Amino acid sequence: MSKHIGILTSGGDCPGLNAAIRGIAKAGIKNFDMKFLGFRNGFRGLVQDRTQNIDQEMLSGILTDGGTFLGTSRDKPHKMPVGGKNLDMTDTIIETYERHHLDALVCLGGGGTQKNALHLKKAGLNVVTLPKTIDNDVAMTDITFGFDTALGIATEAIDRVHSTATSHDRVIVVEIMGHRAGWLALESGIAAGADVILIPEIAYEIESVVEAIKDRKRAGKHFSIVAVAEGAMTREQATTIESLLEQKANASNKSEKSEISKQLSDFHDEHVAHTQYLTRELEKQTGCESRLTILGHIQRGGTPSPVDRVLATQLGTTCAKYLADGGHGDMMSIRGQEVVPVALEDVAGKKKLVPTDHPLVETARLLGTSLGE
Ligand code: F6P
Repeated sequence: MSKHIGILTSGGDCPGLNAAIRGIAKAGIKNFDMKFLGFRNGFRGLVQDRTQNIDQEMLSGILTDGGTFLGTSRDKPHKMPVGGKNLDMTDTIIETYERHHLDALVCLGGGGTQKNALHLKKAGLNVVTLPKTIDNDVAMTDITFGFDTALGIATEAIDRVHSTATSHDRVIVVEIMGHRAGWLALESGIAAGADVILIPEIAYEIESVVEAIKDRKRAGKHFSIVAVAEGAMTREQATTIESLLEQKANASNKSEKSEISKQLSDFHDEHVAHTQYLTRELEKQTGCESRLTILGHIQRGGTPSPVDRVLATQLGTTCAKYLADGGHGDMMSIRGQEVVPVALEDVAGKKKLVPTDHPLVETARLLGTSLGE
């Protein structure tokens, strides 16, 4: 009997999502006589029962398209904004799943999606996930699709600011996506030869960055490129966050906890402007004219790189085979050249951050790139 499989994309979009959907559905239809139904805008589509037909015709020509033709959202099944309130819509999702006689639901997403999928698994649904995000921070997989494309875009952007920084003898700070994980800033920074790389995992001192730029000036290099991740923090900021997180973990009651959560959220709101502050400080303290370039969503848009197309297609086709074999409850992860299922319990709630002794961190240090330490 043919299996009925639901598919949704959730969280921030990234290049390769359409390639992955195409991989799952093409392999499923061709080899295993499966039927597919898409849900629009992530978990919200399941709540509102907004569906999208996925057939051979829909799959044609989407391999190279950026974004996701199913649409996406950051909505969570158990905390969905409905009529100004956050409601637990798990039961409604289960009803939709049953109404469409689904045998399994495939969720394509990053860290948040893995948690949401585990929640639905615990509620009794047959869930499978694929790891996507330009941040490359999903636990238990070597890589996520979307990362390679974003790496190419960020690298090209840093390459391009090089010539203008040189012409004007300027410091150019390039802000790269990554709130918690610095993979994108680290790798694009190394690939494009940034002089300073600042990532969330390594707290920095402005004085140390200033010294690195002054050293370059003394050596006759009057321009510098600073690649900084959105979530990079000074030591002082990192200490504040650590202490707030500790206070939250030890809070004795709900109101104390929510007060600390508010302080944390205020901190994050203010932190958004930290690259502007850093740029101004560098100008003041180095005497070099400084500019800030925020790459933003350019890093998430457009056609996937060949590496991401291959990765997404391999994950998708293997997922179809896994479903045909009766598998569910796992994330399809990349280990070397292979796709390996990993239990959602081992993935959800974890993040793959850059270890401070990672070989690429060591590479940057050996190169003389300042990490602001
Ligand atoms: O999770 C991927 C990511 O691109 C982060 O790097 C970035 O901080 C965030 O999404 C931006 O999210 P949004 O598009 O919702 O503003």
